[in-house]
Amino acid sequence: MNTSPTALPTLFLSAQDVATLVHRLGLPAALDRLADTIRADYLRWPAFDKSARVASHSVDGVIELMPIADDTTYAFKYVNGHPRNTRSGLPTVMAFGVLADVDTGVPVLLSELTLTTALRTAAMSVVAARPLARPDSRRMALIGNGAQSEFQALSFHHLMGIDEIRLYDTDAAATRKLMANLAGHTGLRLVPCDSIAQAVRGADIVTTVTADKTNATILTPDLIEPGMHINGVGGDCPGKTELHPDVLRRASVFVEYEPQTRIEGDLQHLPADFPVTELWHVLAGNAPGRTGAAQVTLFDSVGFALEDYSALRFLREAAGELGLGQVLPLIPALQDPKDLFGLLRRPEARPVALALAA
Ligand SMILES: NC(=O)c1ccc[n+]([C@@H]2O[C@H](COP(=O)([O-])OP(=O)(O)OC[C@H]3O[C@@H](n4cnc5c(N)ncnc54)[C@H](O)[C@@H]3O)[C@@H](O)[C@H]2O)c1
Repeated sequence: MNTSPTALPTLFLSAQDVATLVHRLGLPAALDRLADTIRADYLRWPAFDKSARVASHSVDGVIELMPIADDTTYAFKYVNGHPRNTRSGLPTVMAFGVLADVDTGVPVLLSELTLTTALRTAAMSVVAARPLARPDSRRMALIGNGAQSEFQALSFHHLMGIDEIRLYDTDAAATRKLMANLAGHTGLRLVPCDSIAQAVRGADIVTTVTADKTNATILTPDLIEPGMHINGVGGDCPGKTELHPDVLRRASVFVEYEPQTRIEGDLQHLPADFPVTELWHVLAGNAPGRTGAAQVTLFDSVGFALEDYSALRFLREAAGELGLGQVLPLIPALQDPKDLFGLLRRPEARPVALALAA
């Protein structure tokens, strides 16, 4: 009989833990480390067992499971997308996720991913924009000023040198909220605009991050100027898009994982043979990113499981360094791993994992 504990303790990170982690590292440093982690994992692309996420659709939204694994570590994220939620005081996007040890199946980390999804999406936008946007980009339009928007703004400001952001949202209160949240950032000029066209005119980068469960046309071809990079974040579900199909035809289109983006991205409007490039090829130097100053580039972002794997990996490392989180007695640690029933005989006994945390 094996008398040692048969399960590793699971570290739990709450939303407050992740907020503290970001505060202690500093947001620019946290975004920078996250972007480096995502890039490093994208460079290991062939090492991952990949699949399109599993989506469960309903009238007002979607709930998705996003699994991925390499030889050592398995990760999954649970995430929803319910654009009408904000009307009843709930976020549009909520998430949590797990990292597990492939050799044993032990879940080593259970973490909030609502805040982390905003961080990783903003970091990923920059990982894509670095090889795709013009290096002299300074002005960005940010269409959609909801929960994700400040993270996008600050990621592009701190990591890409964007110093002017032109804002538009159909809800003026959302734009006021963004401006109040970012008011202390000297060196970042925020310009509220009356229309999408006014916000987009003269922008080097256009980020669309709106939420509406419809095929919207936030960007039409007449708004697109030579040399623009479009970071299309909000079109991420069947029947939920942001770009007129001719915007994609006008651009060189880059995607995370092609089988998933064909279903979920703005790409869903185009035929199955419309040419796209998976971003990992660009990062690995197998395919060109931007090839000229007048080229229009488009990152058709939908959010891929690898970015959450990277984010969970980053959280585990940083939480370890900073001593954050608590050990959760999620998996029973049995004296005899074959005697699970023994837990019922001794329900008052403290699980070993909790004892380790004390
Ligand atoms: N690609 C990814 O990896 C990824 C990750 C996270 C979220 N998302 C998507 O990003 C979008 C934004 O998420 P959020 O958490 O900020 O949602 P949110 O509901 O907090 O904010 C969305 C904002 O878009 C605005 N909006 C809606 N229609 C508009 C329009 N036609 N023009 C201008 N503004 C409009 C709303 O008023 C709202 O302020 C969602 O669609 C979400 O699914 C994508």
